[in-house]
Amino acid sequence: MPTLHIVILAAGLGKRMHSALPKVLHRLAGKPLLGHVLDTARALSPDRICVVYGHGGEAVPRAMGDDSLTWVLQSPQLGTGHAVMQALPHLDTTGMTMVLYGDVPLTGAETLGRLFRMAESGKLALLTVDLADPSGYGRIVRNGDGSIAAIIEEKDAGPSQRAIREINTGIMAIPNAHLHGWLHRLENNNAQKEYYLTDIVAMAVEDGVAVEAIQPGHEWEVAGVNSKVQLAALERICQHEGARKLLEQGVTLADAQRIDVRGWLDCGSDVEIDVGCIFEGRVRLGDGVKVGAYSVLKDVSVEAGSAIAPFSLIESAAIGENCRIGPYARIRPGTRLDSGVHIGNFVEVKNSTIAAASKANHLSYIGDSVVGRNVNIGAGTITCNYDGANKYQTIIEDDVFVGSDTQLVAPVRVTQGSTIGAGSTITRDTPPETLTLSRVKQTSIDGWKRPVKKPRDGQ
Ligand code: UD1
Ligand code: CA
Repeated sequence: MPTLHIVILAAGLGKRMHSALPKVLHRLAGKPLLGHVLDTARALSPDRICVVYGHGGEAVPRAMGDDSLTWVLQSPQLGTGHAVMQALPHLDTTGMTMVLYGDVPLTGAETLGRLFRMAESGKLALLTVDLADPSGYGRIVRNGDGSIAAIIEEKDAGPSQRAIREINTGIMAIPNAHLHGWLHRLENNNAQKEYYLTDIVAMAVEDGVAVEAIQPGHEWEVAGVNSKVQLAALERICQHEGARKLLEQGVTLADAQRIDVRGWLDCGSDVEIDVGCIFEGRVRLGDGVKVGAYSVLKDVSVEAGSAIAPFSLIESAAIGENCRIGPYARIRPGTRLDSGVHIGNFVEVKNSTIAAASKANHLSYIGDSVVGRNVNIGAGTITCNYDGANKYQTIIEDDVFVGSDTQLVAPVRVTQGSTIGAGSTITRDTPPETLTLSRVKQTSIDGWKRPVKKPRDGQ
């Protein structure tokens, strides 16, 4: 394999984003634009990846946090040719350099592979596309025989050149043997007073180096992001592509237009996902898992056979096999549920482990707790884990039955097999296999009358 260097241009200003965040750090499907480009670049196993940064400053390298990248500062930004010049000290004189844009996130590795193979034979390989509306882009000027003669930027183009619909995407692969010489010959005597990388095309023609173009499989592969409108449009495309891949793997989606994956979603067989669900970070759904409508799962693993009912929010948690969660469940970080656990509506679980076949079906808060097997936690039960300053643990051992509306004031242990009467406030450990209650005795007052409204004066 010849040496492959990849230079990612990411120094430009994202003025039309109207945001303090550098453009390439805006997120598409949960990942920074530049992250998408880097992932695609890595898929080509290059010898080096240089990222040219400038606007946004050190925030960009800091956000990506990858020591294997070569970061090259371009300041001021004097054009795409000038940008690649900054990376020259890091580029070989053999093999090739592929130029990608940090704000063009969805180029397929397959498309870039074709570009690579074209440049491998010593050609200057361009990625071009025919657009219905080519305005704003550099135009591909071809000779009568169809061979490429030059790229003319729109601002430097005459009317006949502006009529050309084949445009330069900016993505290209350049033989390194020529790159150094060509870049040193660049001048900025053009409409924008910039060093245009595109001027190397005419130089290649002059030097007798073949220039050829390929086109991407889809137009969106070369779509750049300059505004929130374009970002939103690419987000839909990205989500639609992701949904299509899930369907192809056999996942059932109630509506492929109504799922958002902002990270990685890994599904076993016969997974069903209803509308409006959001998956963030890394989510793994085992065989036969069902996710109900409008649920949000972030950094979660769900084992086989479990079902999440609608409107549940689950973050940084591990859900075992055959669990029943929701509707309206909130499972917070640090939660581990064993197999067959039921967490019902309006139940919040935080930083707790719950062993097999235990249930908390209604309106509860379980925080900083260790719950054993076959435990039944009645409606309205809460662990009082916080005294305003510190947090304490609640331990509920196997086969415990906690009556409704119980407060377990931590630190406290409810010992194996014990039963708590409804409405109790438990502040001390309970003995095993006993009934514990703390409840004011019920009284009834004979002859008691409800208050009635007094008549107002004059009525
Ligand atoms: C460039 C191409 C044009 C092509 C278009 C595709 C040149 C001269 N023109 O246009 O033919 O149709 O892209 O979108 O190459 N950048 C830097 N440093 C700079 C200038 C730009 O890093 O000094 C980066 C930008 O961040 C961006 C990319 O290069 O990622 C393209 O810059 P942009 O200004 O959008 O494109 P043009 O130069 O107008
Ligand atoms: Ca420009």
